[in-house]
Amino acid sequence: MTEPFDAVDVIRTKRDGAALSPAQISWVLDAYTRGAVAEEQMSALAMAIFLRGMDREETAGWTRAMIDSGERMDFSGLVRSGARSATADKHSTGGVGDKTTLPLAPLVALHGVAVPQLSGRGLGHTGGTLDKLESIPGWRAELSTEEMMAQLRDVGAVICAAGAGLAPADRRLYALRDVTGTVESIPLIASSIMSKKIAEGTRSLVLDVKVGSGAFMKDLASARELARTMVDLGTGAGVRTTALLTDMSTPLGLAVGNAVEVQESVEVLAGGGPADLVELTVALAQEMLAASGIRDADPAQDLRDGRAMDVWRAMVTAQGGDPDAPLPRARESETVLAEADGVLTGLDAYRVGLASWRLGAGRARRGDPVQAGAGVLLHAKPGDAVLAGRPLLTLLTDEPARFARAREALEGAVVIGPGPAPVHPVVLETVR
Ligand code: URA
Repeated sequence: MTEPFDAVDVIRTKRDGAALSPAQISWVLDAYTRGAVAEEQMSALAMAIFLRGMDREETAGWTRAMIDSGERMDFSGLVRSGARSATADKHSTGGVGDKTTLPLAPLVALHGVAVPQLSGRGLGHTGGTLDKLESIPGWRAELSTEEMMAQLRDVGAVICAAGAGLAPADRRLYALRDVTGTVESIPLIASSIMSKKIAEGTRSLVLDVKVGSGAFMKDLASARELARTMVDLGTGAGVRTTALLTDMSTPLGLAVGNAVEVQESVEVLAGGGPADLVELTVALAQEMLAASGIRDADPAQDLRDGRAMDVWRAMVTAQGGDPDAPLPRARESETVLAEADGVLTGLDAYRVGLASWRLGAGRARRGDPVQAGAGVLLHAKPGDAVLAGRPLLTLLTDEPARFARAREALEGAVVIGPGPAPVHPVVLETVR
């Protein structure tokens, strides 16, 4: 096959700071998917994009080309209780202790909105929704499209793995970016996330863009830019899209890991759970429901009444899980004690995430196993008074040899002072 472009010319164009044409973009991603552009050429192009950026038009073209590399799902024919069902999805850019998808999907489905949550596994210090759910005995992440549709119709919510056919160019490119230092680029992150979400075919989407040490975006200005780029990409493709910028300077909730995060999510569904996790779950539910035209719901009251628990149980059961089975527990634990009296003024999300990862809750390479019981439990949050010698954190793992490296990760993570602690609202801003 004669190729219309030469990969080296495309790389040079971006290397020298010019914009790529729509034809160059669609060719290079198609050729990469076919194997006609080599990994080293795509690495060079990704680095050129990382350094030079892409404008709005290029980013939209890049997103379209990644969508076109695979199949598109279609929920427009989904009928529940005799009526066509609205679909709403939520995507988080990734954080530490971020388990909101688990209580959120049943909470929104309770109001008749279908929630197809195609989720991923963890890589690096941020956890993956599927890894968490797989700690439930028997639960299965891989569903066929038919199984997914049937569950959406019968239960209203499904959290499962994205099929390999959805934006395959992104799948390859993301793995390549991961090993070439080219992940933290706004146009590449925005197009990666939005290509999958648009291909998934949801009618509305709420983005949870995390800001702080435990997130890709460390400061508000870059989080705002990422959110704006993604909202524009979604809206341009006909998906009603909003974004909440939310705090990730400290972990969300009190549990970081896999089974411990499922446990905490069930507490939220039962009407309890930590205040910050409840607040974010409710804020995201309100956005998802409003995007589906439902403005009179009270998700905070639904949680207090435990009304979404039946949907959760049905969702877990439909995927082979036993909602009543005891969750796995780590074989070993160690406690980190407070070193002084005072106020906890900082508990760094990134360092806690790294510790949880080193304890075995996360993986270093794709395909590595994770420990269901590993993780970190927090006994205090920023703003709380602490006493010297009292437990601050509990470290959990099946392999005690991992404690030393986890403790190293936590060096500098805990700040105790005279107080008061800086105030970080859970939801910082909304981008529409
Ligand atoms: N999540 C994605 O799916 N892609 C990125 O580039 C970053 C986070």
